Parts: sequence; C-alpha cells; structure tokens
Amino acid sequence: MRSVNILSCPNCGKELCHNDKSYYCLNNHHFDIAKEGYVNLLVHTQKPTGDNKEMVMARREFFKGDHYKILKDEILKTTKELAPEIIVDAGAGEGYYTKAISDHCDALIYAFDMSKNAIKIAKKKAPKVHYIVANVFHLPLISESVDLVLSVFTPLAMKENHRILKKGAYLLKAGPASDHLFEMKALVYDAPYLNPIKEIDHEGFEKLRDYEIKEVITLSNDDLKNLFTMTPYVHSCPSSGKERLFKTDELKVTIAFRLELFKKL
Ligand SMILES: C[S@@+](CC[C@H](N)C(=O)[O-])C[C@H]1O[C@@H](n2cnc3c(N)ncnc32)[C@H](O)[C@@H]1O
Ligand SMILES: [Zn+2]
Repeated sequence: MRSVNILSCPNCGKELCHNDKSYYCLNNHHFDIAKEGYVNLLVHTQKPTGDNKEMVMARREFFKGDHYKILKDEILKTTKELAPEIIVDAGAGEGYYTKAISDHCDALIYAFDMSKNAIKIAKKKAPKVHYIVANVFHLPLISESVDLVLSVFTPLAMKENHRILKKGAYLLKAGPASDHLFEMKALVYDAPYLNPIKEIDHEGFEKLRDYEIKEVITLSNDDLKNLFTMTPYVHSCPSSGKERLFKTDELKVTIAFRLELFKKL
C-alpha cells in the first residue's frame, strides 16, 4: 500500500514509520495493525466514542441504496477539480464517500473515525485507504502535510484542520441544509423544525464557496428505519413518532445538503 510519512505518534508527536505489522516512532511507541488492516491511534486518555454499532450498521444498509448519490457525486467532482495529492477524510464513518474517492482519484487517502466498528467496515470497502481510529480534534498527523480535508456530517475541528493543512490547501465541509429530511421529521415529531444554519468561524481560512444541493427521494419502509436509526432523531423522538415511522410503507423525503469550501490562508 502506498504511503508517505505524515502520521505522527499520538504519545510523543514524532513521525510514525510502519512495517507490515505495526506503526512505531523513534521513542519506541508501537501501535499494532489490526488483522482487518486499520490501526488504532487513540491514546488511552481518549475515550473511544463515535457512533455505536447499531448506528453504523443502519448507515451501512442505508448507503447500499445509494440514496445520497447527489452528495457523493458533488464531493467527488470537487475533489477531482482540486487535484489533491493527500486527502484526509476526518470522520469517515463506514466510508461511503471515502470509497468513491478511492475508486476515482489517485490521491493518497487517510481516513479517521473514533468508531472502530465503522472503520472495520470502511477498510473492507476500500483497502487502498489508510484507515485510522482517532479523534478528529487531535489528529495524529504532522502539521502542514495535507492537501484536502473532507468533513462530511461530522464534528468540525477548524483549528486542527488548519494545523494539518498545507498553506493554500482546502477544507470541504458538507452537512445538512435547513430542510434536509424535513418530511421524515414531520412524521416523527409533532412540531418539526428546520435545521438551524450556523456560520462557521473560519479564521485563518478564506471561504471560496457556500451552496446547497437538493433532491426529493422515495424511501421504502426499510430505508426509513435505517435512515432514522443513523440520525440523532433516534435518541430524541417520542415513541409515538417512532411507531408512525415504522408503520410507513413509503415516503417522499427531501435531501438537502450545504457544501462549504475553504482555502487555508
Ligand atoms: C454522521 S457520521 C458521518 C460519517 C461519514 N462522514 C458519512 O457522511 O457517511 C459521523 C461520524 O463521525 C464520527 N465521530 C464523531 N465524533 C468524532 C470525533 N471526535 N473524532 C472522530 N470521529 C468522530 C462518528 O463515529 C461517525 O462515524
Ligand atoms: Zn512516540
């Protein structure tokens, strides 16, 4: 597998080298490569949170239907246009977007997520990608080593992204626009609300683009259950709403995404 030495030791910050079995630094800190091919670089003081197994499995099933193709294609188009050599997917989940980029771009890709369950699935789908269990707020990466960071539906670590990006390099953020999944929310909540649209403090970056893409898709009962389970609504919605959703055979749902492209100054 192609690699460059941009990983840094989570214990001491020195450069990490690797052989077939493990990653190691000059100070003799070792990190075994799991049999699935990923490495866990979370230090023991960082609690391995991230999405639980149920959410990860639901997302894996939902993505099999390619319902978010519109976003996948947009991310791929922008990535090709920017022609990065080194990409970081910060919070890659089970790698729906990462795999698309790995299949269609020649870049070296490093994908991080706190959830081991997600990383295991992702690594199987795109073996060329370096998959690493780590916290996006403390990435085990050398400063100014990356050409493009992707942050897709994931907590955004602006300062950490700024640190790891080369000068003039890019951050592409994608997340929900105000009416994303509105019809599903109207089904499960008595008083559904539009997603709040927040402005990001992008000190140290220039914002180059800020736009939305949207479409209406038709979801089956299984799709709806998976989609619901992979969103935060699963924790907050009333049980009556969940029952209504589980009894719905088919629903037309708006998917609406906001994309923001930043350039490091
Ligand atoms: C909604 S999912 C999005 C995954 C993927 N980008 C996608 O769009 O399919 C959010 C992901 O962020 C991960 N995550 C949450 N907080 C994190 C953190 N601090 N560091 C790394 N990953 C984190 C979760 O484990 C989960 O896989
Ligand atoms: Zn070390």
